[in-house]
Amino acid sequence: MMRSLLVLAAAGFAAAETGIDAWLRYAPVSSPSSSQSLPSSIISLNATANGPVHIAAVELQKGLAGILDHNLSVIYPVSYQPGNTTSSILVGTVAEYANSFGGSPQIPRLVDDGYWLNATGSTVQILGHNERGALYGAFQYLSMLAQGNFSNVAFASNPDAPIRWVNQWDNLDGSIERGYGGPSIFFTNGTVVDDLDRVSAYGRLLASIGINGIIVNNVNANASLLSTENLEGLGRIADAFRPYGVQVGIALNFASPTANLVYGNLSTFDPINPDVITWWTNVTDALYERVPDMAGYLVKANSEGQPGPLTYNRTLAQGANLFANALQPHGGILMFRAFVYDSVNLNESVWKEDRANAAVDFFTGLDGKFAENAVVQIKYGPIDFQVREPASPLFAYLRNTSTAIELEVTQEYLGQQCHLVYLPPLWKTVLDFDMRANHTQSLVRDIVTGKRFNRPLGGAAAVVNVGTNDTWLGSHLSMSNLYGYGRLAWDFSSDPEAILQDWIRLTFGSNPTVVAAITNMSMSSWPAYENYSGNLGIQTLTDILYTHFGPNPQSQDNNPWGQWTRADHKTIGMDRTVSNGTGFSGQYPVEVAAMYENISTTPDDLLLWFHHVNYTQQLHSGETVIQHFYNAHYAGADTAQTFVTQWEGLQGKVDQQRYNETLFRLTYQAGHSIVWRDAITNFYHNLSGIADSQNRVGNHPWRVEAESMTLQGYEPYTVSPFEAASNVTAIVTSANATTGTAMTTLNFPNGTYNLAVNYYDLIGGKSQWTVSLNNHQIGSWVGDLEDRLGHAPSIYLDGHSAARITFHNVTVGKGDVLKIVGVADGIEPAPLDYISVLPAGVVD
Ligand code: GCU
Repeated sequence: MMRSLLVLAAAGFAAAETGIDAWLRYAPVSSPSSSQSLPSSIISLNATANGPVHIAAVELQKGLAGILDHNLSVIYPVSYQPGNTTSSILVGTVAEYANSFGGSPQIPRLVDDGYWLNATGSTVQILGHNERGALYGAFQYLSMLAQGNFSNVAFASNPDAPIRWVNQWDNLDGSIERGYGGPSIFFTNGTVVDDLDRVSAYGRLLASIGINGIIVNNVNANASLLSTENLEGLGRIADAFRPYGVQVGIALNFASPTANLVYGNLSTFDPINPDVITWWTNVTDALYERVPDMAGYLVKANSEGQPGPLTYNRTLAQGANLFANALQPHGGILMFRAFVYDSVNLNESVWKEDRANAAVDFFTGLDGKFAENAVVQIKYGPIDFQVREPASPLFAYLRNTSTAIELEVTQEYLGQQCHLVYLPPLWKTVLDFDMRANHTQSLVRDIVTGKRFNRPLGGAAAVVNVGTNDTWLGSHLSMSNLYGYGRLAWDFSSDPEAILQDWIRLTFGSNPTVVAAITNMSMSSWPAYENYSGNLGIQTLTDILYTHFGPNPQSQDNNPWGQWTRADHKTIGMDRTVSNGTGFSGQYPVEVAAMYENISTTPDDLLLWFHHVNYTQQLHSGETVIQHFYNAHYAGADTAQTFVTQWEGLQGKVDQQRYNETLFRLTYQAGHSIVWRDAITNFYHNLSGIADSQNRVGNHPWRVEAESMTLQGYEPYTVSPFEAASNVTAIVTSANATTGTAMTTLNFPNGTYNLAVNYYDLIGGKSQWTVSLNNHQIGSWVGDLEDRLGHAPSIYLDGHSAARITFHNVTVGKGDVLKIVGVADGIEPAPLDYISVLPAGVVD
């Protein structure tokens, strides 16, 4: 015992951290001056146990104990004298202040949830417009202290918009649609879990970034959420969130009245049918009886198989208003999703068909027809959370209807938390986009806050599929996206890099080396991911039919999902012009429409979104489309390699647990970025027949293909899609063998190399591989990534299961014999693609 303590102390590492406290760790920082200036007590203006003000006081207590090792007691106004010169921290609402001390404080105007923070006097004042605002102010103050910022500030902060929600896509059975951080913290086996500690902890995280509402279940909603038992469970969830000012709402299935439930089973769900209206009114009343402060509902209708009003030839507005009217007496809000499209009948052979047109098409004629408490929730782009999309034109179309922007913290199409992709810069491209409605500045962020078109409601919702994993999202670094979302939803004009750096200091400390490295990696991560996945506005090239994870460019075309690339031997891209294409560009206000209509004014990064061109089309950058594809993919994968080395520079500066877990993911990403790079460049090289001017594509001098080795118990296997294997072919253990051996004599100059092995890690088995050189073992590994990564797994050899492991600094002599022994397990036949013997600095 003694010995290990000493070793730890000598190493000087911070204690291992699981990530459960995310950015609310309250790690020690040194205080600026003597302890004299530290407050002597916390004055809570509201003694209600578990109210947000009380929680704020407790949080301040906890924070000061952690950050400054300073223990304070919480007192109430009765025992406080305003003229008192001892310093303290005072927290409560403006009204509570007036009640306690008489007279309102002289402070700037506050709106709901806003706060005043004054650290200039001996008593720090934290006053909220409401209780939630007081809690937000306390978190803001703690955020400053935790970053070592002890400046004597005095400022008011108000949110840009009232709706700052998250959407969880949790199913009642405990699974999460597009969830990569473990099972649900809310549901299991059809009901609400008993232990809601993680729900409270989530409430704390959300409150600290200003989130005030949460939809707890999947938009693809199950009517059984409305059972009596689940209603009681929802009540408990709401109780767990309430101290943090987070209001609970639920997603509804439009056809619920026809599901056999306690409220009676109707034969119709027609939104104007009186029985249906009564049915929903009763359900809503029952919910509000248990959850009096329920936030409202979220409805996905007539989309991807979900029922909706169109079934009865009613409009989307009629459908939305059914719920809005039921919520209205209770003050609830109806979020109605604009994600409405036909995923069954779209036909790619019709040149003018286009899923991107769907939102404006479906909402045509409905502007102004929505109830005042209804908000249309619009995904940032017209398709579906892709790596690059133009802003949805619906933001400019709806001017007499309140709108909110829908973002996705969940990295569904963006690496599923196994790739570092810091998303706020992507979101900003849409939020800061100027729609030029009526030839007047019309930034999307000013539209969704209600400012531009004078709307009473608005804001943002983000899909955030946290799970029971200690890291919440499955990855420590992905939490910057949740933090960044909250900060942006509070103030849409904030700078993503500044937000990021606050997050880094709170999460990993203020060491300048740490801050610089994580800033650099994060800020280059979205451009890198776009580079090695899909460029020039091609949306995504991931597998849209299966996992949405790895590369599979042909999955975009020849199906009714409408995420088409229209790539053939000579051309690529969607012609969305009015003059010759789908007419989508004409959905924007005229100035924007003109910009996108014309290829010469369309930005390169959206070229293929709006135009169908030859691979040899020249970009503004001077490159051709195809050469840009090649260059970007190589550049993106190169950047991803540097994430590993940048992170390695932080060893000893970040606690060992988070260091190791993050290194594991970044190493995986570096390998998978090469899988992406090769798959996409090979695919388009094969399709276009146009060579890479730099001769990299299909040319890998440091590789040895597994199928070219001497095989025993292994046999060649043709991988589909072809581009997911180097040279189309991998090897798998033969049907009658569980162990396979692949051998080759290396023909590289004597030297020190990094030995990379590309293999496939399927779900449904844990194969083992051992690699040796001249019978001397170099390393071994197990195919257990399905347990460790959390992305949607695959049962095939494909772009999702393809992975790379690297052994560093291996001494290789010319003529050395390299041998890999694979032991199959379950359905996983110990697959291998190739090895690479890489001199230092070479990526190949
Ligand atoms: C995407 C996602 C689905 C989800 C849908 C939605 O298509 O893949 O899982 O249900 O968006 O936002 O409704």
